[in-house]
Parts: sequence; C-alpha cells; structure tokens
Amino acid sequence: MAKHVLVTGGAGFIGSNFADELINMGYKVTIIDNLSTGLKENINPKAIFIKGDVKKPKDVEKCFKKRIDVIFHIAGCASTIKSFHDPAADLFTNVLGTINIINAAIKFKVPRLLYASSMTSYGVPDKIPIKETMSTRPISYYGITKYAGERYCLATGLRKDLSFKLNVTAFRMFNVYGRRQSLTNPYQGVVSIFIGNVLRGEPITIFGDGEQSRDYVHIKDVTRAWINAIDNEKSFGEVFNIGSGTRMSINNLVDFILRAFGKSRKNYKVIYKPERPGDQKHMQADISKAQKLLNWQPKIKFEDGMADTINWAKETWYK
Ligand SMILES: NC(=O)c1ccc[n+]([C@@H]2O[C@H](COP(=O)([O-])OP(=O)(O)OC[C@H]3O[C@@H](n4cnc5c(N)ncnc54)[C@H](O)[C@@H]3O)[C@@H](O)[C@H]2O)c1
Repeated sequence: MAKHVLVTGGAGFIGSNFADELINMGYKVTIIDNLSTGLKENINPKAIFIKGDVKKPKDVEKCFKKRIDVIFHIAGCASTIKSFHDPAADLFTNVLGTINIINAAIKFKVPRLLYASSMTSYGVPDKIPIKETMSTRPISYYGITKYAGERYCLATGLRKDLSFKLNVTAFRMFNVYGRRQSLTNPYQGVVSIFIGNVLRGEPITIFGDGEQSRDYVHIKDVTRAWINAIDNEKSFGEVFNIGSGTRMSINNLVDFILRAFGKSRKNYKVIYKPERPGDQKHMQADISKAQKLLNWQPKIKFEDGMADTINWAKETWYK
C-alpha cells in the first residue's frame, strides 16, 4: 500500500513542491497549514488539507485520523529578519510547533520524521564550504529556533524508552529557490524578493555591501534529496547539508536577475542599506555527505533554474 506522508506547511513554497512530487510518485499526502504565508492555490487538490496550526496540539492531532507513515515537517516561520521583530512568534512556531509534531509522532507511532533545518544553524562558519561536523553557533534568532527544532527531532530519534523506533533525518537547506517562492513577501528568499522588485518596477535594496555570498539550490534538487531519503536507512539519525555546493555574491545575483529582465544597473535603481542583524557573510555547503549517503547530486544548473523561476514569475505576475 502507498505510504501516507504528512506535509506540514504544504501550502508554502517548499512544502507545496514536495507535496506535488510525492503525489506524482504515488504517495498519499495530508497537508496541515495555517495559511499564514502559504497559499490555498498551492495546495494539491489530491491532498487531504487540514487548515490548522502546528502550535495547537489539537489541530496537529486531526492529521492522524488516517495512519501516517512519514512526516515531512516543513511548517515554520521562515524569516531571519522577522525573528528579530517578533522572537516569541518565531520561537512558538519553530520550536513549540516542532515539539507538537514530535509528540504526535510518538502518540501515533509514526516511524519516520524528516525535518526542515537551515544553514542558519551554523552562524558564522568556521570555514567554507561548510561541513555538517562544523560548529553550530547560530547568530540569528531564527537560526536558534531552527537549530533547536533540529535537535529536538534528532534527540527524539535517539530515545530508547519509546515502544517503537522513530527514524529522523534533518536537512540543513541553504538558499532554496524556484517556482512558488513568494513574489510579494519581503521577508523571505532573496531570489524571489529581487524578482518581485523588478516585476513591480521597484528599486532593489541590498543590505550590506552586497559582497556576501549564498549557496542557491533549486527546489527540484531539494525535493529529490528529501524523497530519496524516506526509505534510505543510511540517512536515519543524520543531518545533511542541502545546497548546490557553489556560491554567488548578492551583487552578482542582482546583476544576473537584472540581465534576465533585459536591464542593468545603468537603467535600474539598486540601493544599498546597512547590514541587518543575523546576516551571515559567506555561505557555501559542502554536500559530500548527501552525495555519498543519499546518492544525491544537484542537477539543475543555476542559469536553467533561474530561467524557469523567472518565466514562472512573469506568467504568475501578468496573468
Ligand atoms: N526557503 C529556504 O531557502 C529555506 C532554507 C532553509 C530552511 N527553510 C525552512 O523550510 C520551511 C519552509 O520554508 P518556505 O521557504 O517554503 O517558507 P513558506 O513561508 O513558503 O512556507 C512555510 C509554510 O508554513 C506555514 N506555516 C507557518 N506557520 C505555521 C503554523 N503555525 N502552523 C501551520 N502552518 C504554518 C505557512 O503558511 C507556509 O505555508 C521553513 O520551516 C523554513 O524555515 C527554508
């Protein structure tokens, strides 16, 4: 019988892409989402949808009326800057929400939990590319809560007092981009923020000198990594970096996006503002562990992934 996967945050950017692919592959999918940043139109009509809040145990328990075999815990506050504006909201969703999912996994004896962790767990890296074994010293409130959620999941996977084995895997995702990343949310994802700016003809704002660099990984590559891991015992109890293994500066990203719209800094306004709290200077994933244990390789070239994302953004914006 097909496995039944609960995707928390399945109306959001990452969660909805996962849900679609799982359904295409024949999995049954239940989604819980409070639609705080997610969109109803992202929800696959073949999924069971529960409008609910992971902060509320009663809402979470509604997802387990049918047997759940695997949980993809993706729901979360996904903004570094918002975590500084409202640290309690970030804490409640990312940590308490994760604890509620873990409690339900234990109560309903779900054997498999995959968790959306973040490169922000590292803080200022010892060196780049970053390996999973390097220090984790988050410098944003968001990074602290994502890392805490990761540790709660991993520590639960080590528990010997449970009547069953809960196999946990955490993915420290770097800058994920692609279709459905919000074009209107100014707090998430530099790629879609800049694309949204250009679509609206607004100036692009860079915080800091723009020489900070990020590792951009396409959502389709991220989806494959997670789905490959479901039944892969080598991934049980493990943490994986999920990135492209390369990096590009914010300045170069802006120039790339402007070029894709037939523009340049000569005819488009780019503003520089002071660096914001929690900003990590250079981030680049060492992906050798995922390559080896998950037999995974990012396949989407940045140019192709961006062309697809920009086409989607134009279609969505002008429809
Ligand atoms: N986008 C990235 O580059 C990236 C990188 C690393 C980790 N992550 C993590 O991946 C996850 C998804 O990020 P995203 O970029 O798709 O963001 P997103 O905002 O598009 O998705 C988050 C989803 O969770 C839902 N949600 C938020 N709070 C909820 C709650 N209390 N109860 C139920 N649903 C709730 C939102 O409505 C939304 O649909 C987040 O946990 C984020 O921390 C994202």
